[in-house]
Amino acid sequence: MRTLTDTRTIMKTLTGTRPEEPKMYETENDISKDRRTQLNALLNQRLASAVDLQMQMKQAHWNVKGPNFIGLHELFDKVAEAVEGYVDEIAERVVQLGGVAEGTVRMAAARTRLTEYSPEISEGMAHVEGVARALSTFGQEARNTINEADELDDAGTADLFTEISRGIDKWLWFVEAHSQAAK
Ligand SMILES: [Fe+2]
Repeated sequence: MRTLTDTRTIMKTLTGTRPEEPKMYETENDISKDRRTQLNALLNQRLASAVDLQMQMKQAHWNVKGPNFIGLHELFDKVAEAVEGYVDEIAERVVQLGGVAEGTVRMAAARTRLTEYSPEISEGMAHVEGVARALSTFGQEARNTINEADELDDAGTADLFTEISRGIDKWLWFVEAHSQAAK
């Protein structure tokens, strides 16, 4: 899925004109409007993936079955709660920089980079695999965002994604510990 920045660049190349800019509020924040506009696009894309990840963790929490039910059911809920916190922090960072947080389910569905969570699986280890894949996909995005925010001179956003990346790595460990012993 393309980011807003990609789309803007492509549209500019195709038409030679500037496409419609997202709504940005005036702010005394000293990060330039141009930087804030780029950060807005970056953060809203990550917000979409985070909203998707949160609901995928709930999907696993609700539907897991098998002998490890209770442990996995509770673990997937803990991951969902942690991701809900990341969603909130990313959305609020968008607004702090003068943008509009675009975090509805429809907005998230249009922009997420996660693949859809399979509705077919039920057994515990299949959910461990599905959850681990979703976490690692988002984890890679979070890690990339640290450098992308750095390049835009926004240490605050880089720090936020450093924290998120570290959290996702921890949850991936908790989840994969269920499958690694068998390998
Ligand atoms: Fe629940």
